[in-house]
Amino acid sequence: MTSAWHWFVIVGTLGSLAAMAWLLMANRKAVGKDKAPHEWDGITELDTPLPMWWVGMFVLSIVFSLGYLVYYPGLGNFEGTSGWTSMDRVAADNAAHEARFAPLYTELAALDVAELHSNRRATQLGRRLFINHCSTCHGVGAQGGFGFPNLTDDEWIWGEGYTAIETAIKQGRQAVMPTWLPALGEEGIQETAAYVRSLSGQAHDSEAAQRGSAHFQTFCVACHGPEGKGNPLLGSPDLTNNIWLYGGDLNQIAFTLRHGRNGNMPAHGDLLSPEKTKLLAAYVLSLSAP
Ligand code: HEC
Ligand code: HEC
Repeated sequence: MTSAWHWFVIVGTLGSLAAMAWLLMANRKAVGKDKAPHEWDGITELDTPLPMWWVGMFVLSIVFSLGYLVYYPGLGNFEGTSGWTSMDRVAADNAAHEARFAPLYTELAALDVAELHSNRRATQLGRRLFINHCSTCHGVGAQGGFGFPNLTDDEWIWGEGYTAIETAIKQGRQAVMPTWLPALGEEGIQETAAYVRSLSGQAHDSEAAQRGSAHFQTFCVACHGPEGKGNPLLGSPDLTNNIWLYGGDLNQIAFTLRHGRNGNMPAHGDLLSPEKTKLLAAYVLSLSAP
């Protein structure tokens, strides 16, 4: 934390302990003029001093707090004399957890993919891993959303099969589709978008699409192929199947062309052990299997 917050915490913590100690001392004895019981509205009030055992407990708890704040990190950036940190604690808990489940993962990862598919334990673990690591982007049911591919259908932008999925998990995927506004101009964008719609058999302005076809042959075939079928090596999607990552209506396609798209799937190789990666990849594969 910044040094302003550091001092804010220290002053706030020690200040309130001091204030409590003062309050205690100030009220320890029955001070004042009128020590005799007095009556008010039929209720008799006594001015009795605080019991000593209670004062003692209070003093002890203040002393304990001070000791705690010396031993453990609690005062701003002061680390405490014990060397305890919550990060070490989490790391230790994680290590204990990993050690406990390691035999199970090793046992399951020894199975082949078909065996994993019919193993209930493997499927449950795969699903758990998917929810923890993948569902924020791909959804709990893996059906994806705008910009995030559906993993339950037969459309694979980066290639189908176990190995492609495993590679996606380990190394991540970075799609690069440049912006085309400088090359095509707004009119060229509209014409090319019309042509792209024609590829998947959607309603389009056929004159515009004809002009768009020429742009497509010049600028797009390198990645999307002469028929617009895409290229899994580059992650350029098939434009003919009417499955869209960024929407297939004219405006959305034009937006994609105008601004480009750079979908990124982060690499998980450092986060997931090979055993977990295998369970996960098998689980994802099973989602689209008939
Ligand atoms: C350098 C390779 C490359 C070139 C050249 C290229 N694209 Fe792409 N295109 C991609 C990639 C990669 C994606 C996927 C982007 C992503 O996943 O974020 C993509 C995505 C798209 C999409 C979105 C598809 C969807 O499912 O939403 C459309 C539409 C598209 N390209 C059309 C074109 C057109 C038209 C041209 C020519 C003007 C073109 N592309 C040129 C690589 C390319
Ligand atoms: C931060 C968001 C994010 C997370 C987390 C994430 N993904 Fe992805 N994933 C993406 C994006 C975006 C793409 C598409 C990249 C592109 O535009 O081509 C993708 C693509 C993929 C693909 C390729 C799909 C295809 O059609 O070829 C697979 C497989 C995949 N992800 C699996 C996973 C798995 C398994 C996990 C959990 C370990 C995961 N993803 C976690 C964002 C994410």
